[in-house]
Amino acid sequence: MSTLEAKRYDQSLWLLEKLRLTQLREQLLADVYGDVLEIGAGTGANIPFYNKSTTVTAVDIIPNRLAGAKKKIETGSDNGRIYLSVANAQELPFVRDKFDHVISTLVFCSIPEPLHALLEIKRVLRPDGQLWMLEHVRGLTPVTQRLTDWLHPVWFALQGECHLNRETAVTVQQAGFEIENSCVYGRGFLQMIQAKIPSTG
Ligand SMILES: C[S@@+](CC[C@H](N)C(=O)[O-])C[C@H]1O[C@@H](n2cnc3c(N)ncnc32)[C@H](O)[C@@H]1O
Repeated sequence: MSTLEAKRYDQSLWLLEKLRLTQLREQLLADVYGDVLEIGAGTGANIPFYNKSTTVTAVDIIPNRLAGAKKKIETGSDNGRIYLSVANAQELPFVRDKFDHVISTLVFCSIPEPLHALLEIKRVLRPDGQLWMLEHVRGLTPVTQRLTDWLHPVWFALQGECHLNRETAVTVQQAGFEIENSCVYGRGFLQMIQAKIPSTG
């Protein structure tokens, strides 16, 4: 993704951002401080919402996707110290127990092996750290569930990356996290998850 493509990506989300996404990003990051890892940061849509005292390492698997994020850092106000890095969430180049918080927004729909990535997140997260996610998921009401299951094959064939019906909260638990809070938005399409490593985990 060049800077121009990054701009197009931001434009494609414009309406959703106005309707709800921006507000949810702000809400997700309100209590996030310290040494933070953001997975699949893309064009850096979350960058404006980090608290000033955070140090954020924002990674994405595709180098060009970080072009938009770089621009936001250069033109934005002082939202903590932000470092960009190319990395695969399934193979994170960080030592064990490094981060206070890990963030993902709209990422787990496209990671090929989500369980693998969550186990990596668990490895680099401090034992008392927290995982914060805002993900679009398999519908959480009977109607949206049917809709996402029905639309998924067509969408995936066209788009090639994004799964419409992932049960991300289930995978979070399979990876050994304990979900502390979970809220549903967007008529059952969007889920905010806050999870921690259980003291026995
Ligand atoms: C839909 S975009 C979301 C971008 C941003 N988080 C947001 O909220 O707008 C998904 C991003 O996840 C990245 N991604 C997908 N698989 C990944 C992986 N295995 N490791 C790191 N990033 C990945 C993609 O390159 C893409 O930039």
